[in-house]
Amino acid sequence: MTMPSIYSVILWIVLNISCCRPQCVTETLNSATFSITVIDHTEMESIDCIRMPYEMTFPREKVLVPYKKILFEGDPSNIVSTKVFSEMESDTKDIFEIEEHPRGEFEFGFMLEWGCNQTYIFPQRVHISVTAPSLNPYLSVSTLVEGQAGRLRCSAPRSCSRREHILLKWTKSDGQSTEIYGDENGYDRQFNRSRHRHRQYIPIYPTADYHNTNITCVAKYKYDAVETTVTLNVKFLPKILNDSHCEVKGELLVCVCISWGNPLPPIIWPLKPLTDYSISSSSTNQTVISTITLSAVEHQNTTMKCISRNELGQTEADILIQNSTEETQLTYPSEEKKGIGRALPWITVVCFSLNLVLITVLIIGIYQRRKMKQKKLSEEKNTYASLRKTEVEDEYSIIPSQPN
Ligand SMILES: *[C@@H]1O[C@H](CO)[C@@H](O)[C@H](O)[C@H]1NC(C)=O
Ligand SMILES: *[C@@H]1O[C@H](CO)[C@@H](O)[C@H](O)[C@H]1NC(C)=O
Ligand SMILES: *[C@@H]1O[C@H](CO)[C@@H](O)[C@H](O)[C@H]1NC(C)=O
Ligand SMILES: *[C@@H]1O[C@H](CO)[C@@H](O)[C@H](O)[C@H]1NC(C)=O
Ligand SMILES: *[C@@H]1O[C@H](CO)[C@@H](O)[C@H](O)[C@H]1NC(C)=O
Repeated sequence: MTMPSIYSVILWIVLNISCCRPQCVTETLNSATFSITVIDHTEMESIDCIRMPYEMTFPREKVLVPYKKILFEGDPSNIVSTKVFSEMESDTKDIFEIEEHPRGEFEFGFMLEWGCNQTYIFPQRVHISVTAPSLNPYLSVSTLVEGQAGRLRCSAPRSCSRREHILLKWTKSDGQSTEIYGDENGYDRQFNRSRHRHRQYIPIYPTADYHNTNITCVAKYKYDAVETTVTLNVKFLPKILNDSHCEVKGELLVCVCISWGNPLPPIIWPLKPLTDYSISSSSTNQTVISTITLSAVEHQNTTMKCISRNELGQTEADILIQNSTEETQLTYPSEEKKGIGRALPWITVVCFSLNLVLITVLIIGIYQRRKMKQKKLSEEKNTYASLRKTEVEDEYSIIPSQPN
């Protein structure tokens, strides 16, 4: 290309622009020729796509292609979506769809733009109330047995932007949480095509310690998070705890067997038919405590067998019998015996003193009695004499008559 030809092209462009400028005159528009039908108010959730169907009519002889349909939020300057049409549409119905919004109230408006920045803003507005997600994740857990693989499944509704993050949290009995599964990138490739639900299958290898702990499935969205918690129920074989013990206490053998299992594992003491024993048991939190008391003479073994069973099987343990060595382990009855032993000298002294007093009192008593007897005897003699006297002299009848 030669230099003159370049100049001529530039000149042509400049001329062309200056010639077209007068065409960019803003026309006065008759608003009666423009109309839009929309839904005034809609409610949706913070994970939903915001969909606004509308039906728009405008003067086709004035609004020439290419034209733009513009959706704005709040103010016409805040454009959120634009559709460009280079051919005249045959259908007046259309829809605007935008990504999820946080909770709150929003107002949207519509605008047409054509020619040299010629615009028409429709007076109607669409009000959208965005609420929290109403659906929690769906969390299912297969039957869990210690040592066998189980499966967790977590499904959560998909969000409009499909940028949700699903994670699983494990909360132990001490309240501490750890994230056991969370894949921010992996799911997208795997689940991008699913329309509504987002699925995760997670293998789980439970131990007895997982029992009664919580698994929480959390779905984190752009603006909200929802979660569902399930308390795990792990079945496991009875485990006889090493707190179990056997002790000889005087003449008695006392054994305690403690077993932990799910379902609750009852305890059996496999004894040869014994005549005299007693068993008491209690249970709390998947733990059974059984106490057996029997005569130490009848059970001569050095160990005691304890068996605990549940539907998964049984566990047995031989508990070593220990002689109680410490004084404090002696039981009450022997303490009482000791007390009597210590008091014995005192009792003897008291008895002796009491005897002494008794004998003295007895001697005095006998002496006094004898003395009284002698006195009485002499008195009796006197009476006898006087009686005889009365008989003869009528002494008593005479005396009262004396004052007369
Ligand atoms: C239309 O207006 C925008 C800003 O309002 C401006 O940037 C643009 O150049 C204008 N277009 C024309 C063709 O005048
Ligand atoms: C497990 O969840 C239940 C109910 O959701 C709750 O009562 C319990 O305290 C939770 N346990 C732990 C260890 O977080
Ligand atoms: C009981 O078992 C635990 C672990 O199983 C062990 O750490 C502890 O030392 C044992 N206690 C006794 C007294 O054997
Ligand atoms: C003592 O233990 C042995 C083996 O553990 C067992 O065969 C026997 O029956 C037990 N005797 C009693 C009296 O329990
Ligand atoms: C307990 O004491 C008895 C007799 O006093 C004895 O035969 C037995 O061996 C002792 N057992 C243990 C475990 O010390």
